[in-house]
Amino acid sequence: MALWGGRFEGGTDALVWAFNQSLGFDRRMWREDIAGSIAHAKMLARQNIITEAEGAALVTGLIALRDDLESGAVKLPEDAEDIHSAVEGMLTQRLGAVAGKLHTARSRNDQVSNDLRLWFKNHVPDVIDALTALRLQLTKMAEENMGVVLPGRTHHQHAQPVLLSHHLLAYFWMLSRDDERFGECVRRADALSLGAAAMAGTPFPIDRDFVRQELGFAHLCENSMDAVADRDFAVEFCAVASLTMMHLSRLAEEIVLWSAPEFGFVELDDDVTTGSSIMPQKKNPDVAELIRGKTGRVYGDLTTLLTLMKGLALTYNKDMQEDKEPLFDAYDTILACLTLMTRMLQGARFKPERMAQSLYGDFSTATDLADALASEGIPFREAHEVVGIIVRESIKRKQALEELTLEDLHRYDVRFTARALDAITPIASANARTSRGGTATDAVRAQLEKAKAKLQPNGK
Ligand code: ARG
Repeated sequence: MALWGGRFEGGTDALVWAFNQSLGFDRRMWREDIAGSIAHAKMLARQNIITEAEGAALVTGLIALRDDLESGAVKLPEDAEDIHSAVEGMLTQRLGAVAGKLHTARSRNDQVSNDLRLWFKNHVPDVIDALTALRLQLTKMAEENMGVVLPGRTHHQHAQPVLLSHHLLAYFWMLSRDDERFGECVRRADALSLGAAAMAGTPFPIDRDFVRQELGFAHLCENSMDAVADRDFAVEFCAVASLTMMHLSRLAEEIVLWSAPEFGFVELDDDVTTGSSIMPQKKNPDVAELIRGKTGRVYGDLTTLLTLMKGLALTYNKDMQEDKEPLFDAYDTILACLTLMTRMLQGARFKPERMAQSLYGDFSTATDLADALASEGIPFREAHEVVGIIVRESIKRKQALEELTLEDLHRYDVRFTARALDAITPIASANARTSRGGTATDAVRAQLEKAKAKLQPNGK
């Protein structure tokens, strides 16, 4: 049954009814819808817009309905138009005509916005918690692997040795910015839209601040038209989720690469990998690949919402019913990806010996050799030239930098000292980079302490 039958002589075409129906996806806001109605009913009675007895009947009826839905004693009707009509319909069945008073000074336009904001407030913190768990896991791995060195890359070529802990903590900081963004996003959604009614406000003497307090919102939407027309918070969530997914996808890509045999830098646990139906040797990093793949879907959700909203004259337009599926999809996807990324990392075993092997003979400490010469007083440009020649000739001779003796170095420049040889081991190279935020063990330990402090409840 529709909530708007009076004006119509004919019924709705079955196809149109199905096309218009949103219960299939907005049913997941049923708790929020009932909570909003309870607060609204209490306010109507307090303001003498309805009688105390009517208010009590509505509140008791809504609470009983909520408990019955929660316990599974009753189910939402399949044939309702949306969650708002479903709840009101069930309440009418239970209470009769008095249920019709609930919609006084309210419209589905402010109701749907309010439900969505409440849902947001109730659920986005789960994403933030999952993000915190992943950030914690990254700090744990950074701590456990302190001293492990691997090639740092630019252009995907070996650049300079870095600590694995440094590499992992780079993701910690990306995700920490995302944590702040999600927090901001929740704060901006934290405003009551009820009271805007259809879009212009209401002549009834409502008390919006009472409803705000009942529902735990920090603010009131200050403009009734903005209240029903705004979906910025949904767009913002999808934007932040897209950025977070981009970070997860880059990490996923590195896990995929690192678990390939040519790298062998990490071995994933059996329980997060899959085999092949044809190739018995395969152990595929499906979870990482799926996280990378699902990034596209969240970008799609963002694009859907931005496109949905861009041409809408104020205020509510039915197009906006299409806001929920992308928002819920982005939410479900990012929550699953964060949870599974953490699971995958918890069982990941890093292979320091493979990392050391890949550093051997890769010339990634050539900068250190040049620095060593420069620190003997030779202009860096000149030192760079000398080391460039050493690298070129060593490659020709298939000789690693690590194999050069001081005598060998002297053939290129007599100003080399034994310090040069000490400087070109991967760990010495990393440890030389003591600048704040650099990859030296001491600098990374200091960074790790900062990261851990940021994870403290007051460390935001
Ligand atoms: N199902 C609708 C939505 O999700 C609820 C609001 C309907 N409002 C209206 N004026 N038809 O947007």
